[in-house]
Amino acid sequence: MKRQTDGMSETMNEHVSIRAAEKEDAARLLEFIHPFVAEHRLLPRTEGEIDLLVRTGFLAEVDKKLVGFASLEIYSSKLAEIRSLAVSPIYQGLGIGKLLVARCVEMARERRILEVMAITSSEEFFKGCGFDFILPRERKALFLETFQDPYDVSDPEHIER
Ligand SMILES: CC(C)(COP(=O)(O)OP(=O)(O)OC[C@H]1O[C@@H](n2cnc3c(N)ncnc32)[C@H](O)[C@@H]1OP(=O)(O)O)[C@@H](O)C(=O)NCCC(=O)NCCS
Repeated sequence: MKRQTDGMSETMNEHVSIRAAEKEDAARLLEFIHPFVAEHRLLPRTEGEIDLLVRTGFLAEVDKKLVGFASLEIYSSKLAEIRSLAVSPIYQGLGIGKLLVARCVEMARERRILEVMAITSSEEFFKGCGFDFILPRERKALFLETFQDPYDVSDPEHIER
């Protein structure tokens, strides 16, 4: 596994492990996603939302240090969404994001959920994970945004997203 360092790549000796998140992970997870929320890369999460995401979430760790997270939010027996996917900047580009998405997709398959979606600005990343804008049999997903600013934490409605 290689890590980019000032334009040079060096061999990374640390071992990356992916495991199912546990409820005890919730506090450090909230801390972990904070910088991504501050940069508007992820939506803000309350403690209650994190507790739910943890139940179907996966952590990436390097020597017990939390370096990545993704959760599969299950809406129905038909549909689930990849939520709160993030990898620490210095560990990006090493395949960790792809491993986290693969674990979420595996969970969806195990539960026989028909479709997994992602709402993202990292479309190339998700295409690399096998996602696409269209589904077989000429089906497409269409969206309508009902709130102007999902990052407005003073808006109490954001809790529901
Ligand atoms: C998006 C993100 C999770 C990707 O994680 P990562 O561990 O760096 O991704 P990987 O190393 O597994 O990359 C897998 C592939 O996607 C590509 N890729 C990664 N991030 C990409 C991006 N932003 N745009 C285009 N391609 C990207 C990689 O080059 C790699 O390609 P390859 O398989 O051909 O080598 C990470 O960049 C991140 O945490 N971003 C900030 C938070 C965010 O935007 N989350 C998504 C919200 S849905």
